[in-house]
Amino acid sequence: MTTPWPRSASPPSRVDRDDVLQRWRDGRAFTRVLFDQFLPEDAWFENPIPVRHPFVFYEGHLAAFGVNTLVKGALGRPGVDAMLERLFERGIDPKDEGEGATSAWPTRARVADYVRRAEAAIETAITTVARDAPRREFLERNEAVHTLLEHELLHQETLLYMLRELPTAVKRRPADLEALQVAGTPPAPRRVAIPAGCATLGLDRESGTFAWDNEFPRIESDVPGFEIDVFPVANADFLEFVDAGGYREASFWDESDFNWIRGEGITHPHAWVKRGDGWWCRAQFEDVPLPLAWPVWVSRAEAAAYARFRGRRLPTEAEWHRAAFGRPDGRENTVPWGDGSADTRHGNFGVARFDPVPVDSFPSGASAFGVHDLMGNGWEWTASAFQPFPGFRPMASYPRYSVDFFDDDHAVLKGASPVTALPLVRRSFRNWFRTQYPFVFAKFRTAGA
Ligand code: AVJ
Ligand code: FE
Repeated sequence: MTTPWPRSASPPSRVDRDDVLQRWRDGRAFTRVLFDQFLPEDAWFENPIPVRHPFVFYEGHLAAFGVNTLVKGALGRPGVDAMLERLFERGIDPKDEGEGATSAWPTRARVADYVRRAEAAIETAITTVARDAPRREFLERNEAVHTLLEHELLHQETLLYMLRELPTAVKRRPADLEALQVAGTPPAPRRVAIPAGCATLGLDRESGTFAWDNEFPRIESDVPGFEIDVFPVANADFLEFVDAGGYREASFWDESDFNWIRGEGITHPHAWVKRGDGWWCRAQFEDVPLPLAWPVWVSRAEAAAYARFRGRRLPTEAEWHRAAFGRPDGRENTVPWGDGSADTRHGNFGVARFDPVPVDSFPSGASAFGVHDLMGNGWEWTASAFQPFPGFRPMASYPRYSVDFFDDDHAVLKGASPVTALPLVRRSFRNWFRTQYPFVFAKFRTAGA
């Protein structure tokens, strides 16, 4: 299936208006596919993930975000509908969303009307963005514009992991989807030793490229020698943990994580479905017999328990960088496979497809140290709490993007999922979720001393 959607990676920070307008329209076009083609007609008010807002919120949120950030924030112009711009302002974290939940959502027609007017205001803002801007700091390096473009892409992934939750029978499967690669077994687990060395995280503020506030500044981290799995943990590997009673054995789990799985009644990975005596897996548009060679997608709580079951642990963010971008000669790559940019020939990302592939599908995407499947096929959980780098500064155009989540409940994820948009597939990007959040497209691998 072809996605109408920004194909190029790493937008430059100096962009011309036609280019921005084109990127914005491309992003909106894929959002339209999600709402108008993938979302079942009567799921508009549904929230398949109970701690998140229903689909209606995201339709309003994407438009309102552009008005709030660019039109009102950067340009100081009047908004489109003050009531809706407050209602749709924010709501990205399960805990916050549960608290802010409302049952009085506007109708689909009312939101569609708002979206049309908001889009017109945003397009006008984009075409006149450099003129008469009272809040110059929003526009330094075109920050507000890039924020707008990437925010759209981030929530396309949100929408896809919400859509995956819907019952298979109501899903609207695109006609031209390629067949899922469900057969086969994963390669035998292997590990590789990574020698002590330096990992560069983050980005220089002077680099001239857009990145979110938590990606700045560039820091260097000395990483002692360690070893790491060559492949992410596959469903076949994780099945051994399930069959060994891993979900019942408290000693594998952090105490709060064990309380969480007991409280929720969690006994297996979220997307696994037991049918008769066999396991199935809920994919984006269909259920398939558990693909043994796909990476297992789990919460960090479950990933950490599995690692302990194997006498292992999760890699830190700096270790992950070292495994992904470090090189035996001491230099560093920009992508695991060398000195390039995101390229769908080397990994399962960029919405080339909607589901995982076997963990050994992209040998050409292996890192210099021989670690496979780092970028794509699922974000990777790290052992690191989501915290600012020393020298962090909240971004002018969206100061709450990161700061509200610097707590020990959220962990850093690196890499990308199959449905992560190409511009987000970059070395410095840091994703984060609650450690007890099983809904995202996230895999993991284990490390050892
Ligand atoms: C970066 C994916 C954790 O969607 O929860 C979207 C991004 N922030 N709107 C999320 C975000 C504001 C955020 N993540
Ligand atoms: Fe958002």
